[in-house]
Amino acid sequence: MSKNSLSSRDVFTSRLGVIAAAAGSAVGLGNIWKFPYITGVYGGAAFLFVYLGFIALIGLPIMLSEFTIGRKSKSNAFGAFKKLAPGSPWKFVGMLGVAAAFMILSFYGVVAGWSIDYIIKSVTDSFASKSPDELDSMFTQFIEQPGLPIVYQLSFMLMTMAIVIIGVKDGIEKYAKILMPILILIILVLDVRAITLDGAKEGLNFLFHPDFSKLTGEGVLSALGHAFFSLSLGMGTLITYGSYIGNQNNLAKTALQVTVADTLIAILAGVAIFPAVFAFGIEPSSGPGLVFITLPNVFQQMPGGFFFSILFFLLLTVAALTSSISILEVVVAYFREELKIKRKLATILATAMIAIVGVFCSLSMGLLKENTLFGLNFFDLLDWISANMLLPLGGLFISLFIGWYWGREKIEEELAKGAGVVSWLLSVFIFLVKFIAPGAIAIVFLHGLGVFNFG
Ligand code: PFF
Repeated sequence: MSKNSLSSRDVFTSRLGVIAAAAGSAVGLGNIWKFPYITGVYGGAAFLFVYLGFIALIGLPIMLSEFTIGRKSKSNAFGAFKKLAPGSPWKFVGMLGVAAAFMILSFYGVVAGWSIDYIIKSVTDSFASKSPDELDSMFTQFIEQPGLPIVYQLSFMLMTMAIVIIGVKDGIEKYAKILMPILILIILVLDVRAITLDGAKEGLNFLFHPDFSKLTGEGVLSALGHAFFSLSLGMGTLITYGSYIGNQNNLAKTALQVTVADTLIAILAGVAIFPAVFAFGIEPSSGPGLVFITLPNVFQQMPGGFFFSILFFLLLTVAALTSSISILEVVVAYFREELKIKRKLATILATAMIAIVGVFCSLSMGLLKENTLFGLNFFDLLDWISANMLLPLGGLFISLFIGWYWGREKIEEELAKGAGVVSWLLSVFIFLVKFIAPGAIAIVFLHGLGVFNFG
């Protein structure tokens, strides 16, 4: 990405830069922390298969739609709709995205803070000779504290803020290109260790042998929500990034590569975790602590575990950072445009507001855990509303915008820049964004919310 961070006139300087930034946004805590834990909660393989279906039929076409809208409009999420559909209510889709970004980053920063604490726990060899139960209570006791998790959450938010102010070209983006492949390598090493554990087979069965009778409406809605969350869709992040992509880029190819990379990393994380979950007798549905409890057990049982655990949590934090900057950017771009304030002030303001909400997310793990709504604490509530409602809703409107408002001619014109358009592939894409994506989202949405039931 060129000078001065993500200002609207920036252009990605290379194809690799585009991939690094978009994949950097997509690959994050969603893949390594959230995917395994919700797969565990919703029963394993059946959830995974539904998730994969949503990725292919809804996620990929919507990612391409976001890139297309972004590159054509050369604007942020809100401005893009204003520019492409002047005087219409489409711009509210951009506002929906800003609300989602605000909520997501609030709890995202908390989990990233946990990861920072686990770097320190790794360096001080705190996992050594602890039983699975002890590692479980180590995690619970930590997140329930009112002090330290907030310190780490705020530190993470400060890092995110600094990068968005200073710029990403010489900082995070340069390092992301080197660090992301190392993260994948470590996950592969963990995979090997996990699948050679005694009892690993049960974990692999859990992840890959579906029992569709376990699937619930809520599970299907979560699979849809997570497809959006994991691919960074539905709130205009990839519209914003799309606006920095040059005309020579083949958008369809880029979308496919980012989607495949993101999905593979989630599956590899699942393969690292579930065999170990079963081998160490951890409950697969134990929730947000799954990765933080399971992996320390694995590190303990492998040569070089001390070294690998430091590197793993360090890279998890970096992966979180390349995602969090993309989330913050959505809010910052909106503040700049709507409040007409400078990038620096917009970033400080957005960070401060999000960090304060984040403090309450952190406190809802301990001090405020009795304060629930619909049985969810504040952290889970923000996660649920943003991922399961706002992102699919944003996706619904984005697909309607591209499929019905824009139409074939304009889509073809934009996609033809930097690529030869294959007519039948274009037809498939248009069919997906026009009918399948909005239809499926509407059905899953209403069903998951219990508005109607298939029985
Ligand atoms: N995709 C990121 C992850 O999987 O961790 C999270 C995220 C980033 C969600 C950007 C939404 C977004 F717009």
